[in-house]
Amino acid sequence: MTNQKIDYGNWVPRNLLYLLFIISIIPAIITLFPIILIIKVILWVLAGILFFFFIFMLYFYLAFAKNNCELQNMMRGFVIEKLLWDGDGKALDIGTGAGALAIYLAKQFPKSEIWGIDYWGKGWNFSKKLCEKNALAEGVANRTIFQKASASKLPFKDNQFDAIVSNYVYHEVRDVKDKKDVIKESFRVLKKGGFFSLQDLFLHEKKFGEIENLKSTLKDWGIKEVNSFNPIDHMKMNRFLRNMFKNALILYGQK
Ligand SMILES: C[S@@+](CC[C@H](N)C(=O)[O-])C[C@H]1O[C@@H](n2cnc3c(N)ncnc32)[C@H](O)[C@@H]1O
Repeated sequence: MTNQKIDYGNWVPRNLLYLLFIISIIPAIITLFPIILIIKVILWVLAGILFFFFIFMLYFYLAFAKNNCELQNMMRGFVIEKLLWDGDGKALDIGTGAGALAIYLAKQFPKSEIWGIDYWGKGWNFSKKLCEKNALAEGVANRTIFQKASASKLPFKDNQFDAIVSNYVYHEVRDVKDKKDVIKESFRVLKKGGFFSLQDLFLHEKKFGEIENLKSTLKDWGIKEVNSFNPIDHMKMNRFLRNMFKNALILYGQK
């Protein structure tokens, strides 16, 4: 391990906080100019609403950042705990962000080669360069490969990986309407007999449908074993955070 700084980032993008702050003060500043009262009132209300959203997101940013990102780390820990793989071979982290889950896997399994993909869109403070920097700092740069790609169209052949993992990504994928298609694309690259552990807001029915239907869809695709684990039942959280993660679930098992 080198003494370079490791940065796995925050699930509330800093860019979003800056944007919300700036667009909330703009209407307030305009009210300082000589304009009619009704417009002033409308602008103050608008500024108030936007500032409320800024405070709301700032609260979650600080909650995620607390104790060296303890909450984010715990959640990634559950994904690894539920992966029933022996670590011999190749694994893929889908939507790797700053590479945290991929790097944790590489550290946990010294015989493994870990790939991480992400589309690294502008909305996030993550990048391929950051992943590579983190892997170097954690001493696993020789066994981790990061590549820009969308989870909806993975640049890999069928049945290539011995394991797949993902953490809070499917609900974010915008280039495919039906999120189940993105999950199906993940399973396409997993070998028969390979292991998976995928955490997301799978209990969100509007996005993923009813959970028992989702599980049986996975079985219809030929997935041999599908289990679920509710991470929230195993974490201490205040009611705001609990509400934010109320739809969280890990789907894990074997293809
Ligand atoms: C909440 S972050 C989670 C990041 C990472 N899995 C972790 O545990 O820190 C969501 C991630 O999904 C990624 N993402 C969103 N849409 C994507 C897509 N179409 N393909 C790949 N990654 C995507 C974002 O870039 C971001 O890194």
